[in-house]
Amino acid sequence: MRSETPVVSSLGPADPLAGRRVLVLISGSIAAVKLPLVVSALVQRGALVRCVLSPSAERLVSAVALASLSRAPCHIESDQWSHRAARPLHIELAEWAEVVLVAPLSATSLARWVQGLADTLLASTLIACEAPVLAAPAMNSAMWAAPAVRRNWRELQGWEHVLPLEPGSGLLACDRVGDGRMAAPELLLLALESLVLAGCRRDWRGRRLLVSAGPTREPLDPARCLTNFSSGRMGVLLAQAARLRGASVDLVHGPLTVVPEWLEGLRCHPVVTAAEMEAALGPLQGGADAIAMAAAVADHRRRAPQAAKLPKQALTDALRSDWEAVPDLLAGLVQRRPPAQVILGFAAQSGEVLEQARAKFARKGCDLLFANPIDRTDAGFGAASNEGWLLGPGERQRPIGSTGKLALAHELLSALAEVMALRAPVQATADP
Ligand code: CTP
Repeated sequence: MRSETPVVSSLGPADPLAGRRVLVLISGSIAAVKLPLVVSALVQRGALVRCVLSPSAERLVSAVALASLSRAPCHIESDQWSHRAARPLHIELAEWAEVVLVAPLSATSLARWVQGLADTLLASTLIACEAPVLAAPAMNSAMWAAPAVRRNWRELQGWEHVLPLEPGSGLLACDRVGDGRMAAPELLLLALESLVLAGCRRDWRGRRLLVSAGPTREPLDPARCLTNFSSGRMGVLLAQAARLRGASVDLVHGPLTVVPEWLEGLRCHPVVTAAEMEAALGPLQGGADAIAMAAAVADHRRRAPQAAKLPKQALTDALRSDWEAVPDLLAGLVQRRPPAQVILGFAAQSGEVLEQARAKFARKGCDLLFANPIDRTDAGFGAASNEGWLLGPGERQRPIGSTGKLALAHELLSALAEVMALRAPVQATADP
């Protein structure tokens, strides 16, 4: 076996997965064919990975490929009891792991785990695990809906060391379209990163969060628009982090440039213009316990966009006239908010950040404001990391040093939860 030295993460040393011991347990569902990609991505990000295949998974995915991709032996059922091993393999693996991914989690492996039936290497390893486990089921939609599976899945929701990742809907290998499709590899990686950063915390359970993300586009004519460089990454990560912490999340977003799979599991409301964003936020505001206004709303729009494309010569004239200011959506939300609702605003600043942010905070009237620089490559629009100032009630202000955007999302959620704890919930919420 190679020495346990991680490769350098492609996201840099600050990657939360770099240097982590990740145990990947693969059970028998056709979604197992996606796991080699996850293992490869984990290794590229500097994680130390070991894999276990269940007997059914052995028929679907190659142990040789997994050993090669993980740079470590891949364990199969026949390895469990060996006269050469000083300790039982399932105990050694369970104790080695800092975080565990069980994906796909089949109906059988779920049942064995929940009932404590330790009759395979995979099940006995899972049962012996005290480390946090990300559980991503995959199965046929009728199986997923079956009372026995529902009961086992419900049981798992209550386990403190488990982060359950609901399967999504889509075309299944059996040709049915429905629930039971395993979370995409990109989402598994995001959820694992979240597990490392925030554990299996479910402190947002029963809460509803409304998030806005991304830029808006204000058309000038059918070919051109006024927009900005926002990618939507901060807002989308806030939404996913909240969902993983148990929140019911609505995401109103402009045109995004993020990994599309990061939107899985969120109730998305895509819009293009500021007017559409305002219209989408309106009906959702009442039911939200908290709002995070991460969208970079365009500041101006054409009073009346041209129906036909403007010739180049007419463009200069058009750019000089006939613009109006876009109303401040955040200020509108603050004015209309129910008494207990908590609102987080953002401030995109160039040059000196803190003084400008303080003035903006006073002007907008929200409960919290996160201000970040946008004139650097390692923070703000489109960057993987961010830094800035968090302003809060009672003139509180706290610098936040350079950190990944998912870590920042968790910090902002904790700050929101702190303010929310001081207020009564808007109303008891349940997922529709
Ligand atoms: N915002 C908004 N509606 C607008 C403009 C901004 O709701 N028309 C919100 C943003 O979503 C963000 C906050 O206001 O939460 C601050 O946005 P920012 O672009 O930093 O500031 P502006 O209000 O546009 O002010 P300025 O451009 O002068 O810095």
